[in-house]
Amino acid sequence: MKIKQEAAVLDETKKLSAQEVIDLNRKYVFFSWSVQKDVAPIPIETGKGIYFWDKAGKRYMDFSSQLMNLNIGYQNPKVIAAIQEQAAKLTSAHPGNAHEPKGTLGNMIAEVAPGNLNKVFYTLGGADANENAVKMARLYTGRNKIIARYRSYHGATYGAISLSGDYRRPPVEPGIPGVVHVFDPYCYRCPFGHTLQTCHRECITSIEDVIQYEGPQTIAALIMEGVTGSNGILVPPDDYWPRLREITKKYGILLIADEVMSGFGRTGEWFAVNHWGVTPDIITTAKGLTSGYLPLGAVVVSDEIARFFEDKYLYLGLTYCGHVMSTAAGIATINVYKEDHLIENSKALGKVLARELEAIKGRHPVVGDVRCIGLFSCFEIVTDRQTKQPMPDDRMNVVRKKLAADGLSTFINHNLIFACPPLCINEAELHEGLKIIEDAISIL
Ligand SMILES: Cc1ncc(COP(=O)(O)O)c(C=O)c1O
Repeated sequence: MKIKQEAAVLDETKKLSAQEVIDLNRKYVFFSWSVQKDVAPIPIETGKGIYFWDKAGKRYMDFSSQLMNLNIGYQNPKVIAAIQEQAAKLTSAHPGNAHEPKGTLGNMIAEVAPGNLNKVFYTLGGADANENAVKMARLYTGRNKIIARYRSYHGATYGAISLSGDYRRPPVEPGIPGVVHVFDPYCYRCPFGHTLQTCHRECITSIEDVIQYEGPQTIAALIMEGVTGSNGILVPPDDYWPRLREITKKYGILLIADEVMSGFGRTGEWFAVNHWGVTPDIITTAKGLTSGYLPLGAVVVSDEIARFFEDKYLYLGLTYCGHVMSTAAGIATINVYKEDHLIENSKALGKVLARELEAIKGRHPVVGDVRCIGLFSCFEIVTDRQTKQPMPDDRMNVVRKKLAADGLSTFINHNLIFACPPLCINEAELHEGLKIIEDAISIL
C-alpha cells in the first residue's frame, strides 16, 4: 500500500507552515497553465475587501480580483451568511427539482440582463456556459459553424478551447469541428495594418466577408467577449457591437456575448454590451455572478430561443445545473452589487483609473498602450514604442517579483499587466495600487 506520509502533517493539532502548504500543493496538485516545476504559488489564508493574507501573515492588495471574478471583494459577510443559511437548510438538489434559490436568481439575472434575455441555463463556470451556448445555438438554428475571434479566451474544456483563439488552443488541437476564427478590433496593433486615421473598420467588414465565404446558411453563431479580457482589454470602437448585431441579424446568425469576465459590473455596466445598447441573442456569464464565492455560470437566452425549447427537446444537462448552494450565493452577490452600488463605483472609479493609466503611460516609455473600461484595464509593456516589440517574459518576471515584494498581486499575461481590482475599492486604494505598479514598471 502506498503510504502518504504527508497525511501526518494534516494532524489537526498541528498547524501547517506556509512552506508545508506549498509543498503539499506542489506534490499532489497540478497548477493550471504552467510548467509545474516553475510554479511559485502564494499560500493564501484569508482575505477582507480588496486584500488577502498569506499563511505567513503577509498582506497583498489584490489588483486582479483573483482571476477577474472576485468583484465584490473578499469575505463579504452578507454572502457568507447567505451561504451558511442555505447550507443549514439544503445543500444539494437534483437538477430536475425546482427550488427557490434557482428560480429567484433566474429572475434576478433576467432583471439585470439587457432586452429580452429572460431565461437561464445554469452551468458551473464560464467554459461550460460557452459549450452549452454553442449547443443551444446549433439546436436552435440547425446550422453548425461558429465564428469566434483570435484574441479570445472562452474556457479550457474542449469545445470552449476550440472557440478560443489564443495560444492555449493549438497545443491541444484538434478541437471540435466547425469553428472559424476572425481578426479582432485590436487598434494598438491593427491586424489590417491601419492606424486610427486610415481605419475603415476592416475588423467589422472582414467578418461579413468571412460569413459570405463560409456560407451564412452554415453559421449558427458569432461569439465574442463583451470586452476582450485576458487577451488584453480590447475595448472595441463604438460602432463595433451595433454593426455586428446588424450583420448577424441580416444573416440569421445568433450573436453570443461571452460576458464571463466582462459581466457583473467589471466594465461599469451590468454587462459590457450595455455600453453600446446592444442586445445579443445569448449572454454567457460566470465569475462575477457569485464573485467566485461558489462556482456558477449561466447561459442567458432571448425569449425567442426560450420559446423554441418549449416544445423541442433540450439536449443539455449537468448534475450540478442550478446548484442550490451556488444559486443562493448568486442571489446574495447580486444584492451586494445593488446595495453597495458597486456597478456605479466601477463606472466612477473607472474614469479615475483611465486618467491615471494615461498619466503613467506619459511617464514611462515602456508602456506602449493602456486600455480601460470601468475597473477593467491593462498596461501593454514594450521594449520600444516605435517597434512595439513586446517586453520579454524574463523582464516581466522582474516586475512580477517586485509587485509581490511590495504586497500587490495581479494577473500578468506575457507583456500585459492587468489592473482590475475588486469593485469595492475606494479612490485612495486605487491610487495606492497604481503607485505600486508604477514603481515596478519603472524598473524596466
Ligand atoms: C471571457 C471568458 N470566457 C470564459 C472563461 C472560462 O471560464 P471558466 O474558467 O470559469 O471556465 C474565461 C475565464 O477566464 C473568460 O475570461
